[in-house]
Amino acid sequence: MRVVILGSGRGSNAEAILQAQQEGRLGRARVVHLFADKPEARLLELGPRFGVPAAFVDPAPFKTKLEGAGEERFIAAVRACEPDLVVLAGFMRVLKPGFLTAFAGKIINLHPSLLPAFPGLDGIGQAFRAGVKETGCTVHYVTLEVDAGEIIAQASVPLEPGDTLESLAQKVHAAEHELLPRVIAELSVPRG
Ligand code: GAR
Repeated sequence: MRVVILGSGRGSNAEAILQAQQEGRLGRARVVHLFADKPEARLLELGPRFGVPAAFVDPAPFKTKLEGAGEERFIAAVRACEPDLVVLAGFMRVLKPGFLTAFAGKIINLHPSLLPAFPGLDGIGQAFRAGVKETGCTVHYVTLEVDAGEIIAQASVPLEPGDTLESLAQKVHAAEHELLPRVIAELSVPRG
């Protein structure tokens, strides 16, 4: 299963996926390319470290969505990789019908809350401020409606007395780093 990862920043989840691949924990999945929509994204540094091609693709003209010329550039770049799965690992742009149709049913996203709770930006901060007893992370298929596609798997994280936003964020990220590679591995193995 050929996997393409899209991200915008730190790339800790892309790193967890590549680490899992290196350790033989990614099933039949293989990461074939990393793409970022920001030239300074640390995600791109993972390419040389793990021996996987990594590139910036210009997402202009829009700031928060992928549409128009930027969408066309992303479609062409990703299509050239012939992916079976496109993983959004911290890709902070809303996808539009052009990209969604080009890779229909093959795009999954990681979100830092137990969807349908706290969609949109800052899922961890939203949950912390709401004072919930537990939050977590979700991997789901991507559809036109943001953070609303079919849920594939979730991991929960309890909020404990004394938790700060920082300690909670750390726990959610740790859960993400375990969940996302596991889901990719599971998707790569045909069910009998
Ligand atoms: C992750 O926490 C991911 O859940 C979140 O961005 C972070 C990326 O971290 N994604 C979203 O909020 C999507 N709406 P990373 O760059 O270190 O993998």
